[in-house]
Amino acid sequence: MERELALELVRVTEAAAIASAQWQGRGKKIEADDAATTAMRNMFDSVNMDGIVVIGEGELDEAPMLYIGERLGTGMGPKVDIAVDPLEGTNIVAKGTNNAIAVIAAGDKGTLLHAPDMYMEKIAVGKNAAGKISLLDPIEKTIDIVAEANNKRVRDVTVIIQERERHEEIVERVRAKGAKVKFFGDGDVGAAIATCLPQTGIDLFIGIGGAPEGVISAAAIKALDGDMQARLLPQSQAEEERVIDMGLKEPRQLLTLNDLVSGDDAIFSATGVSDGELVDGVRFLGGDLVETTSIVMRSKTKTVRYIKAYHHLEHKPHLIVE
Ligand code: FBP
Repeated sequence: MERELALELVRVTEAAAIASAQWQGRGKKIEADDAATTAMRNMFDSVNMDGIVVIGEGELDEAPMLYIGERLGTGMGPKVDIAVDPLEGTNIVAKGTNNAIAVIAAGDKGTLLHAPDMYMEKIAVGKNAAGKISLLDPIEKTIDIVAEANNKRVRDVTVIIQERERHEEIVERVRAKGAKVKFFGDGDVGAAIATCLPQTGIDLFIGIGGAPEGVISAAAIKALDGDMQARLLPQSQAEEERVIDMGLKEPRQLLTLNDLVSGDDAIFSATGVSDGELVDGVRFLGGDLVETTSIVMRSKTKTVRYIKAYHHLEHKPHLIVE
């Protein structure tokens, strides 16, 4: 992939964030998601690439835009796999709370796992513990490994977990071990990536969330030299068949970071919709002025850029929600 693509993809996540942020706090998650999807889809038209959606808003019959298999870009330039989550945290925006992002991962054709929309068990850590963890280890052992790798006492280890009933047992075990639990409501892409950013104080991410979000997180974790493992959790015969069709021999097989994102040239771009661990949200500064904050990274060079941008909506009327 050409490196210019990274900056082009920032423009795409910025557009989605600006459009959906206007639905912040209005109790309308579908409208917020639609605004992000439409803005993202339109912006892709100007990107020089021959892209195909491998993770998107659904199958062709479920989603009018950004459906799996849709071609994106001008058709000129590199052949790339695209994974999108135009609005990661639809409920967050509806409720007006923190940690919603617009996000894209891209990789050379054939390098992103075509994860279907189902649950996935995931674990993620930052650079110090990379190569040392396994999803198959008991959580108590993993906490010891992470404590040693990050040079912390077990009582200072922070484990970020999505607040869901399905995680009650793991939460109890983390606390019984003496480590701390930090809950988040929605948005596990940002939570998983937070383990790779020492300033967040988060050492370990564990739990069950969406499989598409897992692949998107993996692109960023690779660029940040962290580590991640996962396992798909098909809930029905139909879902199991779907996984086997994708090419996995054993539907619940352990997936390493390289299985999620193979090759060494993935790009990740996220723009904050609301304030979060990763980036600040969209700020409407008065008049037509809007500020966005994005993070973009490329696993080939490990460059991480934070990009603040000031947009004049007068020149982007298509992003204005009436
Ligand atoms: P949406 O943006 O699609 O609402 O997803 C938010 C999210 O919290 C993801 O980050 C996470 O992977 C998934 O939902 C968890 O699913 P569930 O809400 O069913 O527990």
